[in-house]
Amino acid sequence: MSKLVVVTHPNINQSLVNRLWVEELSSLGEDVKVHSLYEKYPDLKFDVEAEQALLSKYDEIIFQFPIHWFNVPFALKKYIDEVLAYGWAFGPGGDNMKGKKIRMAASTGGNKEAYEGGVSLDDLLQPMAISFKFCGCDVLPTHRIYGASHGLAEETIKTNAKEYSSAILA
Ligand SMILES: Cc1cc2nc3c(=O)[nH]c(=O)nc-3n(C[C@H](O)[C@H](O)[C@H](O)COP(=O)(O)O)c2cc1C
Repeated sequence: MSKLVVVTHPNINQSLVNRLWVEELSSLGEDVKVHSLYEKYPDLKFDVEAEQALLSKYDEIIFQFPIHWFNVPFALKKYIDEVLAYGWAFGPGGDNMKGKKIRMAASTGGNKEAYEGGVSLDDLLQPMAISFKFCGCDVLPTHRIYGASHGLAEETIKTNAKEYSSAILA
């Protein structure tokens, strides 16, 4: 069964991690459908019904993004606010996300040590995970790479990208 990857990056052409992740996933052919929000909606005016129809087609959905200000990019928050709507994703008749497997894939600028001993990446992503669980989803472990602002080697990112695709296809 094919998987949907919803990518939120405001400037993928200047990205290193998210661009290489997309390149890796795009090489998987029909197993993975990459859906880039900024490419489809440069003005971020989402077609809510079309997005809901798209999400409905997949049993497993991956949300891929860089961490921005200890959070998901605002465009992804807007997407969640609008697309996971009352009566569709929760509330009366709102069972369309129920039973779906959801995974997040997040890149950080801060290195691993910055996320140890204090607030972890999983802590930052708790509101997202709780939201998906609230809609009846099964939340899978977050794929991640730390340290993009600390000179990650391209080879390191490519190795990480392979681990990412293996996790998705497992
Ligand atoms: C507006 C903005 C806010 C950011 N805030 C954080 C942050 O809070 N924590 C962090 O670790 N990195 C932060 N970063 C760094 C990005 O997470 C990092 O550049 C990105 O994950 C690298 O992925 P890319 O090569 O695909 O762009 C921020 C970057 C931008 C542009």
